[in-house]
Amino acid sequence: MRLLITGGSGYVGAGILRRAPQEWKIAATYFAHPLEPSGVAAFRVDIRDTDAVNRLFTEFRPDVVIHTAALMAGDEMMATNVDGSRHVARAAMRSFDSAGAPLRTRLIHLSSDVIFDGEHAPYDEDAAPAPLTPYGESKARAEQGVTAEHANPIIVRTSLVYGFAPMDPRTRQTLDGAMPRLFTDEYRCPIFADDLADALIELAGSRRFIADPRAEAHTTNALSVLNIAGPQRLSRYEFGVKLARAFGVASRFQPALSASSPTPRPRDCALDITRAQQILKTRLQSVDAVLAQTSARSNG
Ligand SMILES: NC(=O)c1ccc[n+]([C@@H]2O[C@H](COP(=O)([O-])OP(=O)(O)OC[C@H]3O[C@@H](n4cnc5c(N)ncnc54)[C@H](OP(=O)(O)O)[C@@H]3O)[C@@H](O)[C@H]2O)c1
Repeated sequence: MRLLITGGSGYVGAGILRRAPQEWKIAATYFAHPLEPSGVAAFRVDIRDTDAVNRLFTEFRPDVVIHTAALMAGDEMMATNVDGSRHVARAAMRSFDSAGAPLRTRLIHLSSDVIFDGEHAPYDEDAAPAPLTPYGESKARAEQGVTAEHANPIIVRTSLVYGFAPMDPRTRQTLDGAMPRLFTDEYRCPIFADDLADALIELAGSRRFIADPRAEAHTTNALSVLNIAGPQRLSRYEFGVKLARAFGVASRFQPALSASSPTPRPRDCALDITRAQQILKTRLQSVDAVLAQTSARSNG
């Protein structure tokens, strides 16, 4: 198995790198931040550059690519998320094996719950995107792009990703008091980074759920969209309180209403994860279950 991870220097990508089976041949990309030394093949690639992406696929010839590379903000966000995702999907579809035969790399594309307007939760896999924010718009357009370029991508929609080894940036800011206000009326389904990594690795390793792009017809089990999030819907404020309690620090943030945000934000992006719970062996744990283990470890 040859697995390529775009965005190996990012929070989700690095988590996949830490947990992927040692016997797999793995390559990962970075752009501005070199990868931690990990023994995997590292490629510096700007996914906005279609030729560079093509060269990467020609050189590494992955069986599967997990495409995590993206930007959450900034002038380059649209080009990175929309054009970059298209480039990855196109290169995956046109890849060749070492004998020159079409390889057609299978594609797992990371998407987000903020492609929704937040007014019609819970969202299942058939829900239609209606983004409110520029980031949500870029991720919704990225989904369209990969679907246009690749015969059968799996689009994985996920929610707030949190973890402790290392700690994700948002949790760090929450505990450090760098987030002075947390919304009591903005709901998400936070997912533990290790669970997300394990679920993505399970998908990557399974021929059951990812259709072979070389096959004439889609297999009946093939997925096109899969929600992978935590099972516990929490407001950002409730989540912050739970984190502070688990780490034994005072809550250094105030409750606020999302209406106080200067720009429109999706209120409730809860994802329905029934399908993932039915088909995946990986257990998607609640925040309470994860924090109970984390507190027990830090107290022990
Ligand atoms: N984290 C969350 O809570 C969350 C929630 C929902 C969905 N998602 C989705 O999950 C995926 C991963 O998120 P994350 O939290 O791991 O993000 P992250 O930590 O910000 O990492 C982003 C990655 O994208 C790479 N990247 C940025 N611009 C690039 C470019 N032009 N060319 C190549 N690579 C580039 C970065 O490389 P360098 O750092 O080396 O520049 C980095 O490896 C994204 O698709 C995101 O939309 C995340």
